[in-house]
Amino acid sequence: MHDSPLILAIESSCDDTAAAVLSGRTVLSNVISSQKVHQKYGGVVPELASRAHQQNIVPVVHQALAEAKVHQNMLSAIAFTRGPGLIGSLLVGAGFAKSLSLSLQIPLIEVNHMQAHIFANFIEEPGMCTPQFPFLCLTVSGGHTQIVRVDSVSRLTVLGQTRDDAAGEAFDKIGKLMGLPYPAGPVIDKLAQQGDPTKFSFTKSSMSGYDYSFSGLKTGAMNFLNNQQQKNPQFIQDNLQHLCASVQETIVDMCLEPFLRAAKEQNITHLVLAGGVSANSRLRHKLLQHQNDGYTICIPPLAYTTDNAAMIGITAYYKYLDRQFTDLYITPQSRYSL
Ligand code: KG4
Ligand code: ZN
Repeated sequence: MHDSPLILAIESSCDDTAAAVLSGRTVLSNVISSQKVHQKYGGVVPELASRAHQQNIVPVVHQALAEAKVHQNMLSAIAFTRGPGLIGSLLVGAGFAKSLSLSLQIPLIEVNHMQAHIFANFIEEPGMCTPQFPFLCLTVSGGHTQIVRVDSVSRLTVLGQTRDDAAGEAFDKIGKLMGLPYPAGPVIDKLAQQGDPTKFSFTKSSMSGYDYSFSGLKTGAMNFLNNQQQKNPQFIQDNLQHLCASVQETIVDMCLEPFLRAAKEQNITHLVLAGGVSANSRLRHKLLQHQNDGYTICIPPLAYTTDNAAMIGITAYYKYLDRQFTDLYITPQSRYSL
């Protein structure tokens, strides 16, 4: 029935327990269980994340197989996220994948989470554009902000990255200062639609080369909000939509400036977005405007921007074609560079 390899992929690097089944480059199922337990803490609590993964992983995998209408005996390989991520969370996915690979006697494939965010763009789906090599990818998530030059499936070069906070972290931390729930990124995106992005201005920091720094923006926003609240205790409530629009505009511009400069200097015309923050409507809109400057732009569907297992599965598919299997002694890595 299926000519292409059937891969079960597991993602458990942070606070989402996810499983997906792919037939070649086609996603048959993509199940995500987002852990609500962290919301009241305003950020991910690693110990609670590992425990929740342990509870969620079996039902999530069962659901992914059932939705794909694939029996485990039909699988060609098992893939899992090796890193980067929270070690306790990664251990749950790795242990589960190893056990299944051993019991089914099928190959095990380890995947780098950051490569997977980029490769989400190779998923085959109607209306989705497939990036052409060489392309430049801006990966913006809660834990990372990177500009990656991709020359082939196996040649990825990080040209620049954040030296402190990630772009998603900037959204989440500034959102927290404004009393918004975690993760604040999507909430800011929504509230910003009714706000004026020019109402407030925040200082943008810029780094040498193609690197990023977002921690100064967070401190600047904190000082600004404190000063304004001393004059008007209702300042945040009175201006929430304008504040969201202005903060969002600043983060989006800070993300795009080095990315577009890198594209020009590297003479690359194919541009790609990846990672949770690539769900941001303003970032998508502002990057797409550059199509008029001769750039071809690929942006993954929303379902494949934030953490998911389909992106692990598509990366594993290319490794499967290349017979890049791993043994059962492999261990997860909390820090794992591209
Ligand atoms: O890729 P991801 O799911 O997890 C990591 O690997 O970090 O990214 C999560 C991040 C969070 O910081 C979240 O606030 C941000 O992506 N995010 C957004 C939007 N949707 C998710 N940020 C801005 N606008 C959005 N629409
Ligand atoms: Zn991620």
